[in-house]
Amino acid sequence: RIRRTTVPQIAARKGGEPIVSLTSYHAHTAAIVDRHADFILVGDSLGMVMHGMETTVGVPLDLMIMHGRAVVRGTEKALIVVDMPFGSYEESPNIAFRNAAKVMKETGCGAIKLEGGRRMAETIRFLTERGVPVMAHTGLTPQSSHVMGGFKTQGRDEESWQSHIDDAKAVAEAGAFALVLEGMVEPLAARITKEVAIPTIGIGASKECDGQILVLEDMLGLNPWTPKFVKVYGQLGPMIEQAVGDYAEDVKSRNFPGEDQVYR
Ligand code: KIV
Ligand code: NA
Repeated sequence: RIRRTTVPQIAARKGGEPIVSLTSYHAHTAAIVDRHADFILVGDSLGMVMHGMETTVGVPLDLMIMHGRAVVRGTEKALIVVDMPFGSYEESPNIAFRNAAKVMKETGCGAIKLEGGRRMAETIRFLTERGVPVMAHTGLTPQSSHVMGGFKTQGRDEESWQSHIDDAKAVAEAGAFALVLEGMVEPLAARITKEVAIPTIGIGASKECDGQILVLEDMLGLNPWTPKFVKVYGQLGPMIEQAVGDYAEDVKSRNFPGEDQVYR
């Protein structure tokens, strides 16, 4: 049996071969991603991508567990990281541990991810000292979109850089094994990558990051709107449109089912 990529193996990739990562939410797409990615994130973006929510704020813990379980079942090689949703970890280290342990027990994932810099450092230390590997996430943190007034690129004002650097250093010192840098100006992401000891995983960040992540549905062209930081590697939206349209035509014209699709 193939052993999964471990947390220490990811941590050891600092400054080395770039870490490949994508999100997945279900077993069958995860099985494909598993052949190519070092880790797979079951992101709370699934609330928006899979369930039509406007932000990630409404995602419940049980939904993360359902999708996390599906992705663990569909894979054998990649490290599986599951996002802690809004409201499940911010209140206290104790509550964070209780919910993170639930996620690990019920999904079989190898690590969790949570949003926040210095304010989450104490919790990150509490979790890692008790057996929960933590991937941190700073820069644009979608769970705070109501405070920020939307999804805003970070670091446009150079005076804000130090605070982002301090956040990154704080989560690294607290024991996070990697750090997602989302939605920030490129030179800031490059600078943080140089200054912190743990691998940075960029999304809307910099090619200097130690790895990259994208939302699978975004890079497959399944979203009607594509943000600037996404490179579209496949046009699945138009392919599905075509296939569904062809099927509808075949049904209406009684060309489906054909000779090959019926039992004689
Ligand atoms: O939820 C998510 O998909 C994420 C990635 C964008 C990093 O957190
Ligand atoms: Na997320």
